[in-house]
Amino acid sequence: MTTKTVAELLSQDVTIQDVTVKGWVRTFRANRFISLNDGSTINNIQCVVDFENFDEALLKRVTTGAAIHISGELVESQGKGQSVEIAVKTIEVLGDSDPETYPIQPKKHTFEFLRANAHLRTRTNTFSAVMRLRSSLSFAVHKYFNENGFYYMHTPIITGSDAEGAGEMFRVSTLDQKEPPLTEDGNIDHTKNFFGKDTNLTVSGQLEAETYAMSLGKVYTFGPTFRAENSNTSRHLSEFWMIEPEVAFMDLAGNMDLAEDFMKSVLGYILENNKEDLEFLDKRLLDEEKKLPQAQRSDMNLIGKIKFVVDNNFKRVSYTEAIDILRNCKPNKKKKFKYLIEEWGADLQSEHERFLVEKHFKCPVILFDYPANIKAFYMRLNEDGKTVRAMDILFPGIGEMVGGSQREERLDVLKEKMKALDIPEEELWWYLDLRKYGTAVHSGFGLGFERLVMFTTGMGNIRDVIPYPRTPQNAEF
Ligand code: 4AD
Ligand code: MG
Repeated sequence: MTTKTVAELLSQDVTIQDVTVKGWVRTFRANRFISLNDGSTINNIQCVVDFENFDEALLKRVTTGAAIHISGELVESQGKGQSVEIAVKTIEVLGDSDPETYPIQPKKHTFEFLRANAHLRTRTNTFSAVMRLRSSLSFAVHKYFNENGFYYMHTPIITGSDAEGAGEMFRVSTLDQKEPPLTEDGNIDHTKNFFGKDTNLTVSGQLEAETYAMSLGKVYTFGPTFRAENSNTSRHLSEFWMIEPEVAFMDLAGNMDLAEDFMKSVLGYILENNKEDLEFLDKRLLDEEKKLPQAQRSDMNLIGKIKFVVDNNFKRVSYTEAIDILRNCKPNKKKKFKYLIEEWGADLQSEHERFLVEKHFKCPVILFDYPANIKAFYMRLNEDGKTVRAMDILFPGIGEMVGGSQREERLDVLKEKMKALDIPEEELWWYLDLRKYGTAVHSGFGLGFERLVMFTTGMGNIRDVIPYPRTPQNAEF
């Protein structure tokens, strides 16, 4: 008899049949009901034990957390809450669990506690649901691009360039840390380093993706990126996964269309294929919100929020319009913002972004045409000479989900920009080559995968949507 997963068993039509299943004990009540879970679904299968037929010493080993192998008959359930259950014939304890010290007791744990036990937290309903959704979202990402003619490109993780020009990079070095080789003028001699130059972990695969877009047409990367910014917020990780499509002959308007269509498609896939996990997380969020004062509760539930995004157009607003809205809004006039908006050119903080999406427009917003001096060097300069063809997509509850742009394809303009920002041409000679040989309009964006998982699962802290979060002062596991 082959072992079936709990998901398979629960979806069976009830015909009495012999089955075998392996999983971890969630609870064992009244020496009679074992709740078993194997990760294949949010639901447990109930296994009913006639204790008189079993050795007491064996049953004592069936404790929360133990791995067991059960065989028995799949029958229509006598109790409420499930349609089928297993009338147990044999139990084999595959691995004991010490019930005294097992961290994941059958009770509510705080997320902080579970973060400290991240190696076991996927044995809870919430985290198993989140991680199944994460996996599904990642599949939906590849499915979308595959069905739309994109090639998946693996961009390097170790690079010599700083794509975002923000200088927040982790250095990759094999030099002796105490006594590094020095140049004559006393600086570290990176020619002696492993790669013969100073290298770092990538902050983005964009620049390399551009090279492939300029030959393969439509490409995307989906890989880990690293940022050494000291931001201890619920939305920042030091290691996160980014999805970056890059398309030749596509302008900023096309980029916005692509991003919107992509996000709607991926979220639509989840609504179709992950109902049980979504319903569980939806209920979890409702229970959480019940603890909040009425004014702080959201007017839509989790599934409602996802459907809203799938069914409605994102609002497209220029930076200039946004500044006008912000300058004249109540929290600005009443000095409620930490950073007051006074002039055109101000960088938007998350309080401003949240006001725009959550209070003013109440839907995802695509802000475009930002001032050149607050955006990266590679963005296409507009005819006005002061704004660039940048776009940020802001989501309710999340803030910035996507950052992208049309790229500067004109060699002279790009060189001038790099010079002004002290970016050495030698470092990016290959990037400049793209502008020498067959240059063309092209665009792309980067979507922070964990922020998408946050939105889809309703989790409030980014540390809870990646298996092992890396944040300042924390790289456990
Ligand atoms: O806006 P960013 O910095 O854009 C880029 O890196 C571009 N090279 C992308 C491109 O055009 N190909 O980052 C893109 C997205 C952000 O909108 C945000 O969702 C996410 O990456 N992100 C982070 N997510 C988690 N932790 C962090 N520290 C993040 N920094 C950015
Ligand atoms: Mg950004």
